[in-house]
Amino acid sequence: MNTEDSSRTLQAHSQSAEPGLRLPASGLVLRAPSLDDARHVHALVQACPPLDVNSLYVYLLLAHHHTETCVVAQSANGLLQGFVSAYIPPKMPDTLFVWQVAVHEGARGTGLGGKMLSHLLERPILSGISTIETTVGPDNAASRGMFASLARKRNMQITESALFEMQHFGHEAHEEERLLRLGPLSACPG
Ligand SMILES: CC(C)(COP(=O)(O)OP(=O)(O)OC[C@H]1O[C@@H](n2cnc3c(N)ncnc32)[C@H](O)[C@@H]1OP(=O)(O)O)[C@@H](O)C(=O)NCCC(=O)NCCS
Repeated sequence: MNTEDSSRTLQAHSQSAEPGLRLPASGLVLRAPSLDDARHVHALVQACPPLDVNSLYVYLLLAHHHTETCVVAQSANGLLQGFVSAYIPPKMPDTLFVWQVAVHEGARGTGLGGKMLSHLLERPILSGISTIETTVGPDNAASRGMFASLARKRNMQITESALFEMQHFGHEAHEEERLLRLGPLSACPG
């Protein structure tokens, strides 16, 4: 590892302590996550409430089995500013389920969340996708705004229904998670 690589690794290791950079979303590299990204994704998710923080092992599995349907956004200094996890449910080959979207606080409001979702939808492996599903908490205005914006840009309808209710989370104090379905998906207007 050369000095530059080593310094980038150190910066990435201190991801959770970094204030984040207000970079235009266009200054970031969007790519599929690698196993080496998983611990930085874990730290990013920790810094992005109200997201549930899954175990590091979950982010390793996503980078291993679902890398083609996940995205990281990396700035020139090596720090991860954004992450999307998504997968194609086994019995729904035309559906992309978007699990978590995280944008570092310092990079919000620059269009990065929407850009990562659009980047995913442009991947050839997802050319057969006609429906996007996700779940949202009742009060997550940012998440709802981001998916509403995507639906507007792609001329999709959104339907909302109950899915995971409070009792499904048992003793964990967790808000309900409602299902949003966006579709039908058409080609990007450009
Ligand atoms: C949700 C989140 C990913 C949005 O990221 P972002 O990069 O700031 O979003 P964008 O800049 O791409 O905005 C996309 C759209 O959402 C809207 N939006 C973003 N934040 C919003 C907010 N707090 N309230 C209302 N609308 C909002 C924007 O106005 C934009 O709409 P437009 O295209 O019509 O202008 C980010 O706020 C975040 O990481 N939040 C914490 C984790 C979380 O709640 N994740 C979502 C659940 S999976």
